Amino acid sequence: MRSETPINVPQHVAIIMDGNGRWANARGLPRTAGHRAGVERVREAVRTAAEADVKYLTLFAFSSENWNRPKQEVSDLMGLLRFFIRRDLAELHRENVRVRVIGCRQSIQPDIKALLVEAEERTRENTGISLVIAFNYGARDEMVRAVREIAEAVKSGDMDPASITETTVAGHIDTAGIPDPDLVIRTSGEQRLSNFLLWQAAYAEFVFMPCLWPDFDRAAFHEALNEFGRRDRRYGAVAAPELAVGS
Ligand code: IPE
Ligand code: IPE
Ligand code: MG
Repeated sequence: MRSETPINVPQHVAIIMDGNGRWANARGLPRTAGHRAGVERVREAVRTAAEADVKYLTLFAFSSENWNRPKQEVSDLMGLLRFFIRRDLAELHRENVRVRVIGCRQSIQPDIKALLVEAEERTRENTGISLVIAFNYGARDEMVRAVREIAEAVKSGDMDPASITETTVAGHIDTAGIPDPDLVIRTSGEQRLSNFLLWQAAYAEFVFMPCLWPDFDRAAFHEALNEFGRRDRRYGAVAAPELAVGS
């Protein structure tokens, strides 16, 4: 085991990769240059997570609200996703990475849809880390789609409203079958969720890093993992040492 690996490793890490635009601005470059630099960090993040024995890594790549950006920037971001999958899929597959995609598949270009399906299908049997790409993802949109599905099942008589539980909801959202994130990291100093994994992050630990995403290197990732290792998760209960004292 590497000395920098914390003992308490999160099973699922989710990252809000933020700050590409500011990284580019600080260098007098167009925002797209920041997005390009950001894509280069993705490989390293997947590798670092896999080495640390993280089982699921979710990356927020494009939100359902990011369509509100200038047309050119949206188109550059779509181009970069194409570039990333075309360039890196074979390598991810070789490294036994399983790719999954969450988010709404409607309103994305057919060739991108096909690439996402290809990435998922080709790596379906892989047993290494799962790379979950949140693309055209918004947690509220995800909830609305899940509610519609459940309502349809009730309407058709396949589901009794009284039988709906948290497990039912968890099984109808995009992350069905994927455990909740233990750790959510956001780069760039912003401290908000921006509509990311609202249901799933109910008991996640949050680590906000000041560095911009294109600067998020291996050491920064380990810093976040180490911070997670120091957290005490209680899930609404009482901490174990206190219980021992009180009993
Ligand atoms: C994150 O960087 C990438 C996406 C949201 C797609 P930003 O583009 O949000 O960068 P800032 O926040 O403007 O610096
Ligand atoms: C969140 O970042 C979305 C992604 C990282 C893909 P944004 O930059 O879009 O979020 P806001 O606008 O600062 O909340
Ligand atoms: Mg941003």
